Amino acid sequence: MLTIRRPSSEQDFNQLYELINFFAAKFEMLPKTLDELYHSAQAFRVMVIDDKVVGSAHLDLFTPTLAEVKSLAVDAKHQGQGIGRLLVEDCEKEAKDLGIKNIFALTYKEKFFEKIGYKQVSMDALPEKVYKECVKCRYYNNCNEIAVLKIL
Ligand SMILES: CC(C)(COP(=O)(O)OP(=O)(O)OC[C@H]1O[C@@H](n2cnc3c(N)ncnc32)[C@H](O)[C@@H]1OP(=O)(O)O)[C@@H](O)C(=O)NCCC(=O)NCCS
Repeated sequence: MLTIRRPSSEQDFNQLYELINFFAAKFEMLPKTLDELYHSAQAFRVMVIDDKVVGSAHLDLFTPTLAEVKSLAVDAKHQGQGIGRLLVEDCEKEAKDLGIKNIFALTYKEKFFEKIGYKQVSMDALPEKVYKECVKCRYYNNCNEIAVLKIL
C-alpha cells in the first residue's frame, strides 16, 4: 500500500539518505547529510511501500507567499507510477493550507514539472531563493538548474 507520511524512524532516515544521495551522486539533485535530514524532518514527507521509503519531498517555506519543493526523488524501480506527482501534490496541499500562493522548484526535470502544471520562470523571479541560498551554493556561478513555478 502507498502511504505518504513524515520520516519517523532511524530506518526511514537511513533509507531517505540513500535515496537522495543515490541521485545526488549522479548530479541530478543536491546531496544531503543525515544531520540535514534530521534537522528538516518536519518539512519532509516520504512515500512508503511495505515499510520501505521509495520517494521523498521537502517543502521549504521562504515567505508567507513563497515555498519550494526540494529533495524530490522517486526510487528508479518505482518511477513512472505517479509517485512524484503525489509527493508534489502533498507539498502543494500543505503550502495551500498555510495560505501560500506560490510554489517553485529548481530542477533538471523541468518536463516533469511542466506536466504537473508548473511554468518555467527566470531566476530573477525568485530573489528570496537567490539571496538566501543560491549565493552560498557551490554551484552558484555554474548553475544549470531550471526554475519552475506554480501559482496555487
Ligand atoms: C523526476 C521524478 C521525481 C519523477 O517522478 P515519477 O514518480 O517518475 O513521476 P510521475 O510518475 O509522477 O510522473 C508524472 C507525469 O510526469 C511525466 N514525467 C515524469 N518524469 C518525466 C521526465 N523526466 N520528463 C518528462 N515527463 C516526465 C510522467 O510521464 C507523468 O505523465 P502522465 O501524467 O502523462 O503519465 C523522478 O524521475 C526522479 O526521482 N528522478 C531522479 C531525481 C530527480 O531528478 N529529482 C528531481 C529533483 S528537482
